[in-house]
Amino acid sequence: MPDFLDLSDIPSRDLEGIIARARETKNSRIGRANGETDADTRLGGKLVALVFEKPSTRTRVSFEAAVRQQGGQALVLYGSEMQLGRGETVADTARVLSRYVDLIMIRTFDHNSLFEFAEHADVPVVNGLTNKSHPCQIMADIMTYEEKRGSIRGRSIAWFGSGNNVCTSFLHAAGRFGFDFVFSGPVEMQPCSEAVDFARENGASVQFEFDPYSAVVDADLIVTDAWTSMHDAELSEKDKLQKMLPFQVNGDLMAKAKPDALFMHCLPAHREEEVTSEVMDGPQSVVFDETENRLHVQKSILSWCLDS
Ligand code: CP
Repeated sequence: MPDFLDLSDIPSRDLEGIIARARETKNSRIGRANGETDADTRLGGKLVALVFEKPSTRTRVSFEAAVRQQGGQALVLYGSEMQLGRGETVADTARVLSRYVDLIMIRTFDHNSLFEFAEHADVPVVNGLTNKSHPCQIMADIMTYEEKRGSIRGRSIAWFGSGNNVCTSFLHAAGRFGFDFVFSGPVEMQPCSEAVDFARENGASVQFEFDPYSAVVDADLIVTDAWTSMHDAELSEKDKLQKMLPFQVNGDLMAKAKPDALFMHCLPAHREEEVTSEVMDGPQSVVFDETENRLHVQKSILSWCLDS
């Protein structure tokens, strides 16, 4: 089954093809209202389930808009309102949904639940975020970088703060798209070692630089994310100040970066924590382009699942 679970599972050629197709679909929508379908309705006659066990704004709306614009229909399901929330197994839920729909996107907690879901589903499954990874977001981010600056191959990405699920997918992407990665965050918040190994085994340089001002110097792209993910306990004010604040992306840090470096954040942002408003709303920020490109790249991901 052509599932879209992690960038590390999918060949580079396919990932590059997904982005190329997303670019074409985006261009073909110029002049169309958001409620109009695309010229090429790849999901015509298809029903797509969007299952959420965690909150969402972008993933929820961009997937539903993507399905509708591609001529399909979306069913949005919340885990807490399903029997899944009352103890029906992941495997049985996957089998049941497969009898009704043609594709399933799921946002869940445990990455193993995603694997279990995909194993028992008879239709393609897309990872809409787990505690471990967020591949759709990084596909949108690479599409955004390449729109602004050309190929990401050979570029250097500096990540600041917590080595979370988005960071893991960036490391998978480093191995697949051929860019270098610098992590700059607290020692106890380092990224998943498996993802670091994957990136290195696939030719990417991965460095750990605990001085943020050294980490930023050669970066073409500066990225951060919330200090605590949805599944994490809130940090104390003391930890925020002592451990995290040194890695905040602010005007001083951006001033040390290359003048043409871009800033990304998958959102939602906690302004004045991991990033200041000065940077979020500044000229190097492309955060809302990333948001928009979720829509375009996810259309392409859904098509890849159906065509592969
Ligand atoms: N970036 C992202 O996945 O946003 P949501 O949590 O709002 O879906």
